[in-house]
Parts: sequence; structure tokens; C-alpha cells
Amino acid sequence: MPDAQAVATAVVERVWQALRAAPRKPLGLATGRTMEPVYGALRVQLGRLSPHEQQVIRDGWLSFNLDEYVGLAADDPRSFAAFMADQLQRPLGLRPDQVRLPDGLAVDPQAEARRYTASLAAAGGVGLQLLGLGGNGHVGFNEPPCGAQSPCRCLELSAATRAQNAGAFGGAAGAVPARAITLGLAEILAAERILLVVTGAAKAGILRRALLEPPCPEVPASWLQVHPRLEVLVDAAAAAALPPAR
Ligand code: GLP
Repeated sequence: MPDAQAVATAVVERVWQALRAAPRKPLGLATGRTMEPVYGALRVQLGRLSPHEQQVIRDGWLSFNLDEYVGLAADDPRSFAAFMADQLQRPLGLRPDQVRLPDGLAVDPQAEARRYTASLAAAGGVGLQLLGLGGNGHVGFNEPPCGAQSPCRCLELSAATRAQNAGAFGGAAGAVPARAITLGLAEILAAERILLVVTGAAKAGILRRALLEPPCPEVPASWLQVHPRLEVLVDAAAAAALPPAR
């Protein structure tokens, strides 16, 4: 696909199918710059529906995000909860409890990880899972090394990831929380369908490793290769290091 906008349109088509499926399973959602055009396109699409169709989408919406920083309140503008409230929950007119994330302020983050994965299981598990790709090959916040069975948990973020995400924290990697709660590869691989969304030249090298090298803990996204319904949506810049046929 030529650019991030074309990728966003293709992602939204698939989200739309998932939202109209019966029975409808929860969506698995991601944060990050890659998702901004996707959620922008989703807002535009919803606005084109009739009021009745919009209500049907709203009434059945339930989504679970991948991850949240430990130590940030949901109303902290740097939290992933705030990102989701700005991007989807408020613009789409959803109730806060329809757009779920781990609680970054939980007193016991490991217990919160167990509670979160239990609430996802109780809701029937994820139907369509959206994923971005970290510069070091992480998905969610599953930092390398990471096995395919890793569960939802609280973990330490790598220096590379804190630097990658420093933009939302005034540019200082040291200001990025040191820990996060993330769904594990176990929950991600349990989704019915996975959409890996990758845009921009900076991701070309790690995308190539994730898709073409044998799955390994050093590139957590490489485990996605074992999923029977993985679809990879990329722009031309991110696809630059892949063989032409892909
Ligand atoms: C972040 C998030 C991931 C996201 C990835 C890529 O750290 N935890 O869920 O997909 O890194 O981010 P971006 O899209 O901003 O490049």
C-alpha cells in the first residue's frame, strides 16, 4: 500500500467487518503513532453511518487494549487510557467501560495483570487484534527476550522502548515510566485474527526480521508467524526490505 492513509483505510475495513460480525467478540486495540491514522479513519467512517447504524456499533462495542504504563492515572494525558479516550471513546460516544485497559494505578500491578486477563477471558477473548510494531520487535509491551507463552504481566521497559516513546514525555526517556502492564504473547496469539500494522521506513528492518527470520525470543513479533490468521498491513516504506512478492 502506498502510504499510512491507505493502510488505515484497509485496517478500518477489517475492523468494520469485525464490528458487524455476529456474535461480536471484543476488539483488541493498540496505541502508538501507527494507530492515529487508523482511529482517525474509523471516526470518519462512523460519522458516515446513519444514526441507527451508529447506535448499533456503539451498543455492541467492547474493546481491550494491549497495555498501560504503571504509575499513570487514566486521566493523565500521557497514559494510554487518555490516548484511547481522545481517539475513540469520547469521539465515538462510547462509555468508558466499553474501552478497557489495564489500570496503571493498581496497587499491585501483577494482580492487576491477572485481573485484566481474567476479565478479557470472561468477555470471550479477542476476535480481531490490532498490533503495532515496536522498534525493537515488541508487540504490546512484550520486550525481548520474550517467549510465545508469555502471559499478561507487569514488566520492566527496555531503554530502547523508553527512548522510542519519549515524545509523549517531553522528549526525555527517563521520564517514561519504567514499568508497564501488557497482554502477553499468549493472549495475543489466542485472538481469532491478528492485524499487524506497520508504517514508515524506520520499521523496515525490524519488520523484515519479524516476518522472515525463524520465530525467536529476541524478536517477540516473530511469534506472530505461528498464528493461522495473521494479516500484515504495511506501507511501501515499511515494506522496503521485504521480498517483492509480499
Ligand atoms: C508502543 C506500544 C505498542 C506500539 C508500539 C509502536 O510502545 N506499546 O503497542 O504498537 O510501541 O509504537 P508506534 O506506533 O508509536 O511506532
